Amino acid sequence: REVPMTPVDLPLEFVRVVERAAIAAARTMGQGDRQGSDHVAVEAMRQEMETVDIDGTIVIGEGERDEAPMLYIGEKVGTRGGPAVDIAVDPLEGTNLCATGTPGAIAVLAAAEQGGLLHAPDIYMDKLVVPGAARGKVDLLAPVADNLKAIASALNRDVDDLVVIVLDRPRHEQLIADIRRAGARIRLIGDGDLSAGISAAVSGTGVHAVMGTGGAPEGVLTAAAMRCLNGEIQGRLVLTRPSDVDRLRKMGITDIGRVYRTEDLAPGRHVVFAAAGVTDGGLLKAVRFFRDGIRTECLVMTTEPHQVRFIDTIHAESGPDVVIRF
Ligand code: FBP
Repeated sequence: REVPMTPVDLPLEFVRVVERAAIAAARTMGQGDRQGSDHVAVEAMRQEMETVDIDGTIVIGEGERDEAPMLYIGEKVGTRGGPAVDIAVDPLEGTNLCATGTPGAIAVLAAAEQGGLLHAPDIYMDKLVVPGAARGKVDLLAPVADNLKAIASALNRDVDDLVVIVLDRPRHEQLIADIRRAGARIRLIGDGDLSAGISAAVSGTGVHAVMGTGGAPEGVLTAAAMRCLNGEIQGRLVLTRPSDVDRLRKMGITDIGRVYRTEDLAPGRHVVFAAAGVTDGGLLKAVRFFRDGIRTECLVMTTEPHQVRFIDTIHAESGPDVVIRF
């Protein structure tokens, strides 16, 4: 049997998976069809994933088996020829952002050894995401003003220097009023609290925290990113529908008021996180199409070895005459 030249480099394999999803979604940008954009991203991600040498299981995906045709929770993915890994996907995070051509849409995947990612239900989660400097100094259950003071002091600046990202939703009226009263600045976003969370953990982005309620699956993906970026997320599940209790019970979650920390949401030793820009964002540029090819930007990170890579790729599709530009 032929010995491979190099061992399979999973993080780079996952780069092409998120790239494929991002390219497919980006082709539909601005079409006003969020479901259509999501559908092509899911299909592309699923197809590319089948060529990766893993025995993968989707633990966070497009929904339960009966409600999603592809990338549903429990679905087996990969060639089944490699290591057993648990996978969390969000093939198009920010479906509306893509459908309207607004900044911040990304294609995302996280992976870890079996049991390395919390099997979170598709319900809401109260979240607090902070940079590494503020890790261990904030508390999701503390008053907003106290957390802002703690973040400001950890970053060696004043509260009124801080920028907090909040999803623009009526449910955040009180939160927004509290942040304003404390004196911090706010950036309201239409969608995409996962990419906002990543920005909060990267110095120089001008984002210092994310606060408010968003999706629990996005919370687990954020935690995987925080493990690689040394940032922190705290989250608490929020029940809004009677059926939520049932979902939680099915997943074995009984302590509903529990505050999950980064390591509870993504406890794996070997965590991989990969994201590709679909529309322009603070960290990743949009997919760009040119005459002979496509250019993508990806962020791929691992806990072991602890690496954060930004990958700018030219997919030179039409042969030897393509001009490669810097
Ligand atoms: P989609 O990618 O499914 O459109 O979700 C985008 C998003 O904004 C997430 O970033 C966020 O966690 C969640 O939706 C918030 O949910 P809601 O739109 O119900 O407030």
